[in-house]
Amino acid sequence: MDGSVVHAVGLTKFYGRQRGLLDLDLDVLSGEVFGYLGPNGAGKTTTIRLLLDYIRPTRGSVTVLGLDAHHGSRAIRRRVGYLPGDLRLYDSLSGRELVSYFSALRGGVSRERVAALAERLDCDLSREIRTLSTGNRQKLGLVQAFMSDPELLVLDEPTNGLDPLVQQAFYGLVTEARGAGRTVFLSSHVLPEVERVCDRVAILREGRLVAVERIADLRGRAMRRLEIEFGRDVPLAAFAGVAGVRDVAVDANVLRCTVIGSMDPVVKAASAFEIRTLTSSEPGLEEVFLAFYGEEAGRAA
Ligand SMILES: Nc1ncnc2c1ncn2[C@@H]1O[C@H](COP(=O)(O)OP(=O)(O)OP(=O)(O)O)[C@@H](O)[C@H]1O
Ligand SMILES: [Mg+2]
Repeated sequence: MDGSVVHAVGLTKFYGRQRGLLDLDLDVLSGEVFGYLGPNGAGKTTTIRLLLDYIRPTRGSVTVLGLDAHHGSRAIRRRVGYLPGDLRLYDSLSGRELVSYFSALRGGVSRERVAALAERLDCDLSREIRTLSTGNRQKLGLVQAFMSDPELLVLDEPTNGLDPLVQQAFYGLVTEARGAGRTVFLSSHVLPEVERVCDRVAILREGRLVAVERIADLRGRAMRRLEIEFGRDVPLAAFAGVAGVRDVAVDANVLRCTVIGSMDPVVKAASAFEIRTLTSSEPGLEEVFLAFYGEEAGRAA
């Protein structure tokens, strides 16, 4: 597809007889932040390694930045900032030495940019890598991925091991990269984590793509939880058939339900009774997903 930074067609990977990824058709568009979600073993890392030609597909094809993932792999790797899922760094180097090593491979990176990234991610470049905790290694991996200001960032579980403050700093970097017209592809286990930064999300389960959705569309399916406490017991029948009302439960004088779309019909039905309290809340996207794709897809998220 025109404007696709990643374009996969029937992309499939078997490790011997073990399924890694099945018939993936996927387009990641230029300038978007794309979340790639799925539980352990879903095939996220497999997909990412295929993009960067660290493994070869069993069948199907994929292009990255318009280049064939295999034949163009050298050019692709120069133009992509990559954070691997199993970050292996060179233990005997300091962070600064590692950064210089990768800068040289990329043909030079601004020192100021490295320093600014390290500062924002609270990453101490002077320490020897072997002495770093998991989270501190992850920060170094992120500095390395972002430092060349690449056209495309491919990040395999970037928030792994990061404390909440550093996670916030990371989301800031992603938002800025997007503002600068970069494309970001990032994997994660959980929807709530990525809903704040992603434009679209794909859900992968057992090697198969289950859904691709715009975050805005998910939110747009305005679904709210409603709880009303009445002055006296109310009959279920008064609410069961009301437009937009789902999952109705009446417990004596308390009504609980989910409302899709306008609140008007249910509020008008409720007004036939004395209302004591009314509370309404927006469910998380995880719940929205569950409602539309069922239990299994929800678990995959
Ligand atoms: N080198 C390998 N040899 C054999 N099987 C593999 C290999 N790498 C991955 N797999 C299998 O492929 C499937 C997909 O694994 P993958 O690592 O892509 O999942 P993932 O979505 O990244 O999971 P996680 O969230 O745990 O990182 C799993 O069933 C896994 O066991
Ligand atoms: Mg993985």
